[in-house]
Amino acid sequence: MVKKNYLLGIECTAHTFGISFIEKKTKKILCNIKDVFTTEKGGLIPTELGKHHMKIAEFLFKKALEKTKINEKEIIAVAVSSSPGLAPCLKEGMIFAKKISSSFKIPLVCVNHCIAHLEIGELTGAKDPVLLYVSGANTQIIAYEGKKYRIFGETLDLGIGNFIDCFARELGIGFPGGPKIEEMAKKGKKYLEISYPIKGMDVSFSGILAKLIHLKNKGEKKEDLAFSMQETSFAMLVEAAERALAHLGKKELLLGGGVACNSRLQEMCKIMCKERGCKLFIPEKQFLLDNAAMIAYLGLKMFEKKIFFKPEELNKADFNPRERTDIVKVEWK
Ligand SMILES: Nc1ncnc2c1ncn2[C@@H]1O[C@H](COP(=O)(O)OP(=O)(O)OP(=O)(O)O)[C@@H](O)[C@H]1O
Ligand SMILES: [Mg+2]
Repeated sequence: MVKKNYLLGIECTAHTFGISFIEKKTKKILCNIKDVFTTEKGGLIPTELGKHHMKIAEFLFKKALEKTKINEKEIIAVAVSSSPGLAPCLKEGMIFAKKISSSFKIPLVCVNHCIAHLEIGELTGAKDPVLLYVSGANTQIIAYEGKKYRIFGETLDLGIGNFIDCFARELGIGFPGGPKIEEMAKKGKKYLEISYPIKGMDVSFSGILAKLIHLKNKGEKKEDLAFSMQETSFAMLVEAAERALAHLGKKELLLGGGVACNSRLQEMCKIMCKERGCKLFIPEKQFLLDNAAMIAYLGLKMFEKKIFFKPEELNKADFNPRERTDIVKVEWK
């Protein structure tokens, strides 16, 4: 009999299709590979992303097996990001995960992508943090309380990453725009006044985007625009996070999501935490951006608490494009 000791994680919610294996006994992540849909110009079309996932899934799975020398029969369960995200992407991920589950007669674990972004932060050693979750579609200030991840503040319109990508597109930069904007901002010298919309712990970005476009059309330099955009929007995030730390009396700040790769945002968080006597935790870059390791990591916890679909009840498993972080009952903690 082959011993089953590896859980397979699949990430599929948007631009990234990823495959990861985690070892059950040691909880070690053995592999974390991905293929990211990018563009030179313009944004993302959900149906194209779905097609990308469908085409790449089998290839990446085989590549991960080769890399880790894991035998298919050693897989104990499959975890897939089933919510929230773009429907065509979630659908392809679910089809692939169900195929694996029924071929190898193993359980299927349905994982909330946002909560996976948060839970992987545990690897940094943070115990009871306020989470600043800043990704493409999401911008939330979160803390865990009473079996749920409670949202204390959030964006009222665009997610910070989508906002930065929209701004980048206006400057003729493809997807993802964040890293290029970060470089551009380093060359900016002039701080341009833009609005600073924050109410309590909620923020919004569409007004700033409109103002930036207006300033660009008036001839302001793109480096100065990028610089002013970062200084303003990151200050808002840091202010909201600080308010949450003060309100909740917590002493740890944990970053999550792709925008947390930004070194200026990290620096601003560091300064705020130092001033407040708090500790800042930043996960490795490979765990900040969309990745399958976080799905495998949370998937394993859920599997161990028997939160899964057996291969004979796969018809009950479905994806959910809109599931909110604070709806999920955290039964595995
Ligand atoms: N250095 C950087 N500075 C700013 N933004 C960045 C940087 N690197 C990546 N990003 C942004 O991170 C986003 C992608 O992050 P991630 O993969 O976590 O988000 P997502 O999956 O699109 O959204 P969600 O998790 O909310 O569904 C993109 O918007 C990208 O521009
Ligand atoms: Mg994400």
